[in-house]
Amino acid sequence: MYDKLMNCLDQVRRRTDFVPKVAMVLGSGLGDYAETLQVEYELPYGEIQGFPVSTVPGHAGKFIFGYVDRVPVACMKGRVHYYEGYPISDVVLPIRLMRLMGAEILFLTNAAGGVNTSFHAGDLMMLKDHISVFAPNPLIGPNIDALGTRFPDMSNVYDRELQALISRTARENDIFLQEGVYAQLTGPSFESPAEIRMLRMLGCDAVGMSTVAEAIAANHMGMKICGISCICNLAAGMTAAPLSHKEVQEAADMAAPKFKRLVTETVKSMGN
Ligand code: HPA
Repeated sequence: MYDKLMNCLDQVRRRTDFVPKVAMVLGSGLGDYAETLQVEYELPYGEIQGFPVSTVPGHAGKFIFGYVDRVPVACMKGRVHYYEGYPISDVVLPIRLMRLMGAEILFLTNAAGGVNTSFHAGDLMMLKDHISVFAPNPLIGPNIDALGTRFPDMSNVYDRELQALISRTARENDIFLQEGVYAQLTGPSFESPAEIRMLRMLGCDAVGMSTVAEAIAANHMGMKICGISCICNLAAGMTAAPLSHKEVQEAADMAAPKFKRLVTETVKSMGN
């Protein structure tokens, strides 16, 4: 695993010496976020030997290195999910790679289902904490001491100062922001209504199929982490309608302008 990671880093370093401050994962709805970047260099995942590439045709994805204002960012346009069949260590490899490139902050975004009954489709939710127990932990296996400690503390995964920055930025831009606990399940099937009731009882506000494994790997490596979910639908059983990927995508697209503005304005302040 470590050798594979260092091999990927080596290949990236042969292509660019870009040093990001912020690593960003662009979830559904932020797919075209790169248009707001001053692009320095693009690197398709497929050109990095050993790098996990999405199995969905046309969704291979790429790194986009560039600037938001004056802040150097590494953006992941597209990511692999655990449900595609990759080992969880491959799912978090890109995060580790961006850390080794120099990124200090990880900004995670995703599309999620709303579990909290006061949420609405189209809301944005800042992550305050997560529940990881329904998905495999990416740190299972021999610990890579060069990356971090065997038993990392998880009491403050989502950095308090970054949370305050996101809240303030939302307020200043008149963007309504929910906050809460995100649970990662493996997918790819959506949850059953009983599972959603269970998650609500456990204190979850949103559910999705990504993000937590990435946050654990980044926390292991000492990154400052923040995350925002786009609540694309109310979760199973909360409305009469069945869930569909199309509905999720449409809601993500609708929320995209405010999502992009919140992310951009927040990242700008991360340079200060
Ligand atoms: N469940 C899981 N993942 C999701 C959902 C959901 O309802 N909506 C968007 N991603």
